[in-house]
Amino acid sequence: MVEPSEVQRGLEDVVALESRICFIDGREGRLIYQGYDIRDLAAKSTFEEVAYLLWYGRLPTRGQLTDLRSRLGELRRLPAPLTERIESMPLESPPMDVLRTGVSELALFEPDESRPGSGSIGGAQRLTAALPTIMGVFHRKRAGLPPLKDRPELSPAAYLLYALLDREPTELEAKAIDVALILHADHELNASTFAARVTASTLSDLYSSVTSAVGTLKGPLHGGANERVMELLDQIGTPELVETVVRDKLARHERIMGFGHRVYKVEDPRATILREWSRKVGEAKGNLRYYDLLRKVEEVVHREKGLYPNVDLYSGSIYSLLGIPHDLFTPIFAFSRVSGWTAHVLEEYQDLRLIRPTAKYVGPTDLVYVPIDARPAGPVDGPPPG
Ligand code: COA
Repeated sequence: MVEPSEVQRGLEDVVALESRICFIDGREGRLIYQGYDIRDLAAKSTFEEVAYLLWYGRLPTRGQLTDLRSRLGELRRLPAPLTERIESMPLESPPMDVLRTGVSELALFEPDESRPGSGSIGGAQRLTAALPTIMGVFHRKRAGLPPLKDRPELSPAAYLLYALLDREPTELEAKAIDVALILHADHELNASTFAARVTASTLSDLYSSVTSAVGTLKGPLHGGANERVMELLDQIGTPELVETVVRDKLARHERIMGFGHRVYKVEDPRATILREWSRKVGEAKGNLRYYDLLRKVEEVVHREKGLYPNVDLYSGSIYSLLGIPHDLFTPIFAFSRVSGWTAHVLEEYQDLRLIRPTAKYVGPTDLVYVPIDARPAGPVDGPPPG
């Protein structure tokens, strides 16, 4: 047995496993999926093609891509009792809670995928197709929109916009979302992917692994930074106030969302691409307000702290310009990352080893057990929950 060494808080820099799915070169600012640079994929491919790449480890032929597209279209529909359940959830529920519960309940209708250690590319496709439907059913109910149709002819990006906004996206809008989906599809052992792999490593199933991942992505330190970026822009209001607001925040040691990264020491390559899309969508909408504000925020944060933007800086501006409510930003992240989560779970099954790190114990070991009636009065416990 290896002697426990120093604690690596947050498992920072700990190499936990070997993977062929995703490589991040934090010094050069490169992100690679299965050998392909994200910049090429964002410029030349589609989300479906990237999902295929993550699952199969190679790019599809035209025929394989056509088959995948029609499969994803067919797999969108939820079992009727699940649709009814989602429609009856409290309308004020946080969307990520609905998504987590929806994934977990969908498993009850997919018994083959829910057995211990089971999971297939078919299950990965089912989840990737169904997540936007789960959210679409819920959001339409709370927003008073008409019920969702399957629309199998729509690409995942166009379906997502139709499901959430009940309108036909323009080509540019669908492409902007498609690029965002490509860029969020995988990111090595980020917290939610790690959670999925930990769950799979116990020989649990694909749906349980994705349920763990959705719960992990819900945390604001992982998903949700783009929502906070938009709150900051609302708070700033006009370009003249950027300098003052940002400097005040930094002086109070507050974090500016959308900046900094655990792995990238230079600009996150996803931010570079999304910056361009924020400008393109802003120009198409005749509204460059967010883009102009963000450029100025970037300038101040870089000058004052030397920090670079991450993927979350510009994505929220694109989603907002398309009319997507802020609380759906993290679900959209999940619609994309589910392709990576499932690829990692399937890879975990290929080379399974229970993930079980160890803790450095810092408590006492030799306390003497005192019978309950002989114990001195302790502090008053807080009230019970609820
Ligand atoms: N705004 C202001 N200061 C920041 C910062 C930010 N966004 N990110 C890091 N820093 C500062 C820290 O305050 C710290 O400064 P100090 O040494 O003076 O205390 C220093 O940079 C290092 O921070 P640390 O938390 O150790 O870096 P990390 O690598 O663990 O953090 C993040 C990575 C992503 C958690 C962090 O950059 C952050 O909180 N960013 C904002 C949230 C965000 O955008 N999340 C999405 C990530 S894709």
